[in-house]
Amino acid sequence: MSSTSQEITDRKWWKEGIVYQIYPRSFQDTSGNGIGDLRGIIQRLDYIASLGVDIIWLNPVYASPNDDNGYDISDYRSIMDEFGTMEDFNVMLKGMHDRGLKLVMDLVVNHSSDEHHWFKEARKSRENPYHHYYHWWPAEKGTPPKRWSYFDVEHDAWNYEKNTNAYYLHYFSEKQPDLNWENPKLRQEVYDMMRFWFEKGVDGFRMDVISFLSKDPSFPGLPEDSVPDDFISVYANGPRLHEYLNEMNREVLSDFDVMTVGEAPGVTIDQALDFVDDDRKELNMFFHFDLMALDRFPGEVFKMNPDGWELSAFKKIFSDWDAAFSKKGWGSIYLSNHDFPRSVSRWGNDSDAHWKNAATMLHTFLLTMRGTPYFYYGDEIGMTNIRFDTIEEYRDINTINKYKQIKAANGDLQAFLDDQKDASRDNARTPMQWDTSVNAGFTTGTSWISINNNYKDRISVAVQEIEEHSVLNYFRKMIKVRKSNLTLIYGTYQLLNVSNENIYAYTRSLDKERFLILLSFSTSTEHFSLPKEINYNYAKKIISNDLIADDKTYKEFMLKPYQAIVYQLL
Ligand code: GLC
Repeated sequence: MSSTSQEITDRKWWKEGIVYQIYPRSFQDTSGNGIGDLRGIIQRLDYIASLGVDIIWLNPVYASPNDDNGYDISDYRSIMDEFGTMEDFNVMLKGMHDRGLKLVMDLVVNHSSDEHHWFKEARKSRENPYHHYYHWWPAEKGTPPKRWSYFDVEHDAWNYEKNTNAYYLHYFSEKQPDLNWENPKLRQEVYDMMRFWFEKGVDGFRMDVISFLSKDPSFPGLPEDSVPDDFISVYANGPRLHEYLNEMNREVLSDFDVMTVGEAPGVTIDQALDFVDDDRKELNMFFHFDLMALDRFPGEVFKMNPDGWELSAFKKIFSDWDAAFSKKGWGSIYLSNHDFPRSVSRWGNDSDAHWKNAATMLHTFLLTMRGTPYFYYGDEIGMTNIRFDTIEEYRDINTINKYKQIKAANGDLQAFLDDQKDASRDNARTPMQWDTSVNAGFTTGTSWISINNNYKDRISVAVQEIEEHSVLNYFRKMIKVRKSNLTLIYGTYQLLNVSNENIYAYTRSLDKERFLILLSFSTSTEHFSLPKEINYNYAKKIISNDLIADDKTYKEFMLKPYQAIVYQLL
């Protein structure tokens, strides 16, 4: 690692680590039932370690009836049958630690499954000791104040429950009742459960919709101008949210050397430090949603905006968030996950001509920004959107229930299906493409969701392993570049070209060391001149995803379509 005289205060493993997210259902099946499992992950640990990543974030693997693929948990302390056993989990965790990999689990405590023993009890009667583990609106108070729901066919977050003559709250599906964080007993249950996993050796949590935890239990009416789908800002940042996070930190997190990253829809940049300023003792990082909303319909995070998106806006989001954490706190840098389409299809270009450069350009971007980079499985080989044609091919409750909603309202179903080709979460959930054998080496059975046919051609691990300049091998090289230069991790970020819609150019500097990063988001060759104030003798090429001359002593650059270049300025 290069050394610099300027002191970097507060080095942390989770700042220097690179995260690799696994959607277990789609990673590797070993039982032949068409669903990925923990034994499959164990089988692929050497591959994961070979990438150079440090931290694995695993989507939920707990017992679940799978209304929302594991985000509806029926037992927080056991493993989903389809994924294996607790013994498999222990072997997997040891296998990760033996290879120097850390494990971050998903913590889903805004809601549980309605099949969780707490809810089964809670719905029996108002006197049941578990009743107040959930949010209820007694029917004698009339119809509850409007609350919208993400996955409910009727868009209603309240469900009437006759045993108790009350409505329970579910921001997501009716099988995902919201937990009542007002209740200190519930909070202790959650902290005990977190401790259970930490004592097993788990290295952290990604916290599902953490910004929604706190609700005003009087459920005041929504603001007059609230519209369906634009409810996120209303649900985020409830009155006691920071009190809960602070308590969670005090009660559990502070006892372990672990990493926390909250999923934080609705959290704005001016609120950022309230979550991650060290002194506040809450979280280490969170995922904001500004980028995820960039190409979406205003207020509707799962619908495309026909106007598309502009690179200047993309740069502004990353630059503004970088500035928010320039002195305190720490950011998380991501382009994709299990809720959004594949990054090369969304932010790059997945046409035959540009796919390879686009995928590697995006790798270069994530690995040269300040903040912890998060990669989603398959991005390392440039996996693309599957773009289903029919509703029958979808598996995601989000798409299926919206379809039902539109059908019931006699809406335009074809327009919806066209939109889902780009917007759907299932684009990101197709199985990992390991090789060119049947089912891409994912399963010997029938996959739970279709596999992208392009595994037969160039998008598989096996094919890219043997090709020296593949997307996969570039990913590995680029990881080495980041890891051998502290400047790329901690150095100051400076945007060089605010309004250029084709090239994203920035520097990263620490003490006397300086890197220049040039990224093309264009399908044509582009010319770029560096601002005069950037002084250097020559630019030494560190890495590029395309052919370029090595060193430059002048300030004019030509970039091929989707070319990425990292220079050191000397
Ligand atoms: C988060 C998860 C998503 C899930 C939802 C409800 O947004 O990332 O997959 O459907 O929460 O738990």
